[in-house]
Amino acid sequence: MATPSQARGGFGSRIGFVLAAAGSAIGLGNIWRFPYTAGQNGGGAFVVVYLICIFALCLPVLFAELSIGRASQKSPVGAFKALAPKSLWPLVGGLGVLTGFGILAFYSVVAGWTLAYLGWALTGRFAGPIGPEESEAMFNGLLSSPMEVVLAGVFLLMTAVVVRAGVQRGIERACKVLMPLFLLILVTLALRSLTLEGAREGVEFLFAPDFSKLSVEVVISALGQALLSLSLGMGAMITYGSYLSRRDGMPGAGISVALADTGIAILAGLIIFPALFAAGGEAQGGAGLVFIVLPTIFHKLPAAWFFGVAFYGLLCIAALTSTLSLMEVIVSYFVDEHRMSRLKMTWIMAGACFLLAVPSALFMGFFETQDALWGNYALIVGSLLISLFVGWKWGVRSAVAEITRSGHAMPLAAVWGFVIRFFAPLAITAILVFRLLGGGT
Ligand code: TRP
Repeated sequence: MATPSQARGGFGSRIGFVLAAAGSAIGLGNIWRFPYTAGQNGGGAFVVVYLICIFALCLPVLFAELSIGRASQKSPVGAFKALAPKSLWPLVGGLGVLTGFGILAFYSVVAGWTLAYLGWALTGRFAGPIGPEESEAMFNGLLSSPMEVVLAGVFLLMTAVVVRAGVQRGIERACKVLMPLFLLILVTLALRSLTLEGAREGVEFLFAPDFSKLSVEVVISALGQALLSLSLGMGAMITYGSYLSRRDGMPGAGISVALADTGIAILAGLIIFPALFAAGGEAQGGAGLVFIVLPTIFHKLPAAWFFGVAFYGLLCIAALTSTLSLMEVIVSYFVDEHRMSRLKMTWIMAGACFLLAVPSALFMGFFETQDALWGNYALIVGSLLISLFVGWKWGVRSAVAEITRSGHAMPLAAVWGFVIRFFAPLAITAILVFRLLGGGT
């Protein structure tokens, strides 16, 4: 007889799960958002808080999500229904679906930029020298061109085409080759960037913490960024956890995903800031940072054309493996809970998402509000509720039993229980209350 997990399908192997989860985690959040958020929040101090958030808060929340998913074998709304029937908890799953929608809308705008840059790379625009002003003008030109809206739409279309068919083995297999290649290219770019004259200042900016820059706003940004980067707070990892076989070890898989994700974000910082300071640029810089700085260093590499094409090509893929997980959460909700057709809902949701992407593409202010609302606050609130659910409703004991079900020990299980019950809810609430009371800037 087919077990429920066999009937629903799932990852074929632990490595398949790790790759898909890492594919979801590693994306524009690491390469585009991490460097510019660090830049806006004072560099080193932000990075320290970010790392604390990842290991003290987000890794525990990751295990909370994965255990909910694997125990219930359902996507978020159904998962809460299964573990807490006749309660309001499924609303947390509903918030997750909404959040996924909100993130996907502004995320696809940035993903569209990567398509434009891939196009430019292919036509050799980055093979020759490009100065900072020229690069900035190119970026601003893109933002004021109707092409930006079109490309966001194209990216949503690409996402829909894959999600429509279910997550195929093709993506899993492609990730296996592409993610290591991506890493190799990032390391090469970082080495080039770090050996530029004046690179030191950039490294210091990223790693020398100036704690006078610390504020509630910095902590909120770091927490939100850490959650976004690990795809937490909206049930994406609940969904992926539901496809993880009960035979496979969860502790090691979760830790691998967190380490890979953090490593790639830091590596992106090690490319951007040395290059930025070497070019004499401003450390601030908003959403355009990565897109403006990188084109100025490709021509300093041997095989500049190749690096430009490879970098933006792989960035598109990294973005796609992330948008897949966002759209999967939305679509699987309609499929699982309302028995609607996957095919139909994928197109409808892609279309609806496009409608919300249009104002993000047209107005920078709207884009930034969406990013802050969904990409920061909604994920923080979602994680708070998920911690409370596991800590106080479903129970730490049930969760640990689920995590260790495969026979793999969970290191520091008692500490984890403490974090999920007390530390995470209190820390997140404190940060939010401070913010509401007008703490920070
Ligand atoms: N983690 C992805 C990134 O860093 C973004 C992402 C994909 C995400 N799926 C998610 C964020 C689910 C929150 C929840 O680019």
